Amino acid sequence: MNSVINYAHRGASGHCPENTMVAFRRGLELGATGIETDVQMSKDGALVLIHDESVQRTTGQHGEISQLHSDEIRRLDAGSWYSQEFAGERIPTLDELLDWAASTELTLNLELKNNIEPYTGMEEKVIEAVRARGLEERTIISSFNHYSLVTCKRIAPEIRTGILYVENLVDPWNYARNIGAEALHPYHLTMESFIVRHANAAGIMSNPFTINDPERMQQLIDMGCAGIITDYPDRLDEVLRSV
Ligand code: G3P
Ligand code: CA
Repeated sequence: MNSVINYAHRGASGHCPENTMVAFRRGLELGATGIETDVQMSKDGALVLIHDESVQRTTGQHGEISQLHSDEIRRLDAGSWYSQEFAGERIPTLDELLDWAASTELTLNLELKNNIEPYTGMEEKVIEAVRARGLEERTIISSFNHYSLVTCKRIAPEIRTGILYVENLVDPWNYARNIGAEALHPYHLTMESFIVRHANAAGIMSNPFTINDPERMQQLIDMGCAGIITDYPDRLDEVLRSV
């Protein structure tokens, strides 16, 4: 079996409401060896797993995460928008995910969503939660906010960081080395063989997002990517089993 890490993007979000415990569990059932999730911070400083800064799209209610108390956020229904089958699914806390993941062998790709909201102190809180469960070696902290990745690396040199980007970067493997990151997390269409080759030679992993087409998965595996981020871990599992 290929060693490429199969990251379920927001959990198995092609099958379940994104960033819910049911989506994370389904990811594992469908062959994921990693979970990607989005971390935001409530008004009272709780770390919650939701992609958007607002609760509107996935709960139908109004409000910004940064302006809501965690009790209010935890009462929301994050499943019904997807299907009535998932009515009552909650927005999980980071603690809830980590408590569950600690009993698995999953790699955790925690995306800090602090590129729009500043979320002061978020890095310390995430690192504390990871360390409290001894999950440092199984965690990658990623962000589009690269200053935040530098902050994480200063606080926790032992936890890997991944640089998220959408537009092409020049020599991203050099940039990763400059900011102490261990991984590139690019939009997959920026990925080319020479980038993965240079990154691998520099000891930098390539974990592109978000790939749902099996043919493109195969291309990225052939390039030498260390991980693939997908809404359909079952499709990637099938591709990996055939390699
Ligand atoms: O981690 C990769 C990917 O999740 C970044 O984009 O918008 O899906 O969080 P987005
Ligand atoms: Ca994400």
